[in-house]
Amino acid sequence: MTTRSFSLNKAPLMLLAGNSNRPLAEGIAAYLGVSLGECEVGRFPDGEVRVKIHSDVRGADVFVIQSTCTPVNDHLMELLIMCDALRRASALRVTAVVPYFGYSRQDRKDEGRVPITAKLVANLLQAAGVDRVVTLDLHAAQIQGFFDIPVDHLYASRVFTRYIRKLELPELVVASPDAGGMKMAWGYTKRLDAYLAVVEKRRTSGEDVEVGFVIGDVKDKNVVIVDDIISTGGSVAKAAQLLKDKGARKVFVMATHPVFCGRAVEKLRDAPISELIVTDTIPVTAPIERLRVLSVAELLGEAVHRIHTHKSVSTLFQSV
Ligand code: R5P
Repeated sequence: MTTRSFSLNKAPLMLLAGNSNRPLAEGIAAYLGVSLGECEVGRFPDGEVRVKIHSDVRGADVFVIQSTCTPVNDHLMELLIMCDALRRASALRVTAVVPYFGYSRQDRKDEGRVPITAKLVANLLQAAGVDRVVTLDLHAAQIQGFFDIPVDHLYASRVFTRYIRKLELPELVVASPDAGGMKMAWGYTKRLDAYLAVVEKRRTSGEDVEVGFVIGDVKDKNVVIVDDIISTGGSVAKAAQLLKDKGARKVFVMATHPVFCGRAVEKLRDAPISELIVTDTIPVTAPIERLRVLSVAELLGEAVHRIHTHKSVSTLFQSV
């Protein structure tokens, strides 16, 4: 861990962005009323990441905004190399703002001879000189403990809850697409004064899932499926179909990170989903009707503001 002595009260704020999600970085900068710092994040002819920070960062409180979304390895290397450059350029503090934290789903050894990539990435970020991390809806909250530096773990539920309340859906049920997501769904039921349902799901391969039964009454109800990630789309597509088969009136989906890989777009388009609501932690260009993208720029911008001005961030951890 770094032992540098900080005089952060006087350190100027500096925001920098890699190539993963420029629109979100610009949204955060706009919220804070600053411009993004100047840097080049390109490639050498052989594909290695080439970084040159043009802004003066000596003594600055720097926030690097980078989602480690696809191409995951490239974006992760950009982040690591940017942080290395900043540390060597005498930035006073480097905070990695990672709206989508890739490699987080391999977070434990659930069989022999497999890695724990979430821990590996945490080690890499610290080795690159990161002093602090801001992230959103980690696949498992305990990944915070893989770091020996402060981690501010924010929840997109603040943004989702506000949106779904505006729809004023009667007879509301919040459904988890699997047993693992029950705690998250349970949290929403309390905030939205809704009932809980859980879909029984088994993963049969990286691309495929099977669903069996539903716990909870969904007949003639408006059901909102909540999840952290939509990857191949199988989980929410199959859950939506099953909920419809069980008599749900309308099915909505709210998921923080639109990874959308493999046949996700096709599966989501064919599923009986009235509205698919995601955030902009990952840029979405998928041609899906009924897709709504809610921005987390304000939430992340406020977190940056509070960290920079030494104010408590904990109020942002709570959902509204
Ligand atoms: C599982 O634990 C996660 O919360 C998501 O449900 C899962 O990663 C979604 O994957 P897919 O979209 O490929 O079914």
